[in-house]
Amino acid sequence: MTFRFDGEPVVAAPGQTIAAALLADGRRVLRRTRVTGAPRGIFCGIGACFDCLVVVNGRPGVRACLAEPAEGDDVRTQEGAG
Ligand code: FES
Repeated sequence: MTFRFDGEPVVAAPGQTIAAALLADGRRVLRRTRVTGAPRGIFCGIGACFDCLVVVNGRPGVRACLAEPAEGDDVRTQEGAG
């Protein structure tokens, strides 16, 4: 199954979360903070810290460590609040 991250194709195994697929693909930055633009990525991995927020098909605030991608999803780095 393939989705896109910031326009580039990423392959995910069945049952794999967006965050796991991106990490396996060598991508660690999932969002940038609102004020300083500092990079953030997976921290807790269980949906508690909200550091892994991404934009999925135009919807911001999706926790990449919990969400499973669907074929053709457009996933993007979240800038600030999205
Ligand atoms: S890594 Fe903490 S909520 Fe996703």
